[in-house]
Amino acid sequence: MKILITGGLGFIGSHTAVELQKEGFDVVIIDDLSNSSEKVLEGITAITGKKPIFEKMDLRDKKSVEDFFGKHNDITGVIHFAASKAVGESVENPLLYYENNISALVYLLQQLQKKEKAQFIFSSSCTVYGQAEKMPITEDAPVQQAMSPYGNTKQIGEEIISDVAKVSGINAILLRYFNPVGAHESVEIGELPLGVPQNLIPFITQTAIGLREQLSVFGDDYPTPDGTAIRDYIHVVDLAKAHVTALKRLIDSKNTDKVEVFNLGTGKGNSVLEVVKAFEKVSGKPLNYKIVGRREGDITEAYADTTKANDVLGWKAELTLEDALASAWKWEQKIRS
Ligand code: UD1
Repeated sequence: MKILITGGLGFIGSHTAVELQKEGFDVVIIDDLSNSSEKVLEGITAITGKKPIFEKMDLRDKKSVEDFFGKHNDITGVIHFAASKAVGESVENPLLYYENNISALVYLLQQLQKKEKAQFIFSSSCTVYGQAEKMPITEDAPVQQAMSPYGNTKQIGEEIISDVAKVSGINAILLRYFNPVGAHESVEIGELPLGVPQNLIPFITQTAIGLREQLSVFGDDYPTPDGTAIRDYIHVVDLAKAHVTALKRLIDSKNTDKVEVFNLGTGKGNSVLEVVKAFEKVSGKPLNYKIVGRREGDITEAYADTTKANDVLGWKAELTLEDALASAWKWEQKIRS
């Protein structure tokens, strides 16, 4: 069966392409290369021995999307990763985010709703919960007013999909990721942030390799045991496997609602300082860091209640934070060598 992965050369998309191929699916990738590289195709191929079909395409071009589905009219399964994801940039340039993340989604769904039956997996984020009142966060926790246009595109995206699923043959699963980190154990693929990384783990590995002088730890006055903020860091390979499980659930019509929502995390929260300590342990290197003020818009803590993903989806994170940090470090060393 042929599956379309949009944004399939990106961080989570490329790891998902590998897991899908391993399960025998034929993978077609669309990517505009705005935040990725065609070299990632070689990485995927090196791992699986099979080169995915690749089309460079900007999903904001409605005609291209139409032509694509005309050409590949046997595709009914789509995993939609293609989106912009920098919170700060979205505040500076909201229309870029609404166009990239919303228009593209609409054009894809327009093609899929022509089909009798289609399966759609959407990359959502735990950002939809804002600062949830209760930890761990269940899927029933209220969606809160988004704090950025980026966050808003994830909420609006979920709503658009739900509205369209009601009146079409589309069945969808919305996957709300916590903090995806790590790299494939082969280090053929991993995270490739453009410019200065905004996220914690790539900033740590770039500091350790000497590309950045020092990690700024944003705030040590949070109401947490060590004062630094807590997140649920999930290994990207575990996350990728969850997409395959979700897709199979839709293909086998095992879903109980036209649109289902699952949190994807480990269920365990770690503070920034715990991550730093764990990194020092797995790399054997002390990390140069300094406590600075809080980053605007950051929440105190977020970690997933994984009961629904475990029991209903039948998926569980298997790799640890240490596994993720070790692979991220191995990857950083490889790409700088
Ligand atoms: C961030 C986004 C979130 C998005 C997610 C996707 C913000 C405010 N949030 O989540 O909307 O869905 O990325 O990738 O940008 N930290 C440091 N020093 C650093 C970098 C991070 O101390 O140099 C801390 C942060 O304050 C936070 C934790 O590390 O407590 C994780 O940060 P990050 O990796 O950026 O993820 P989120 O902020 O959770």
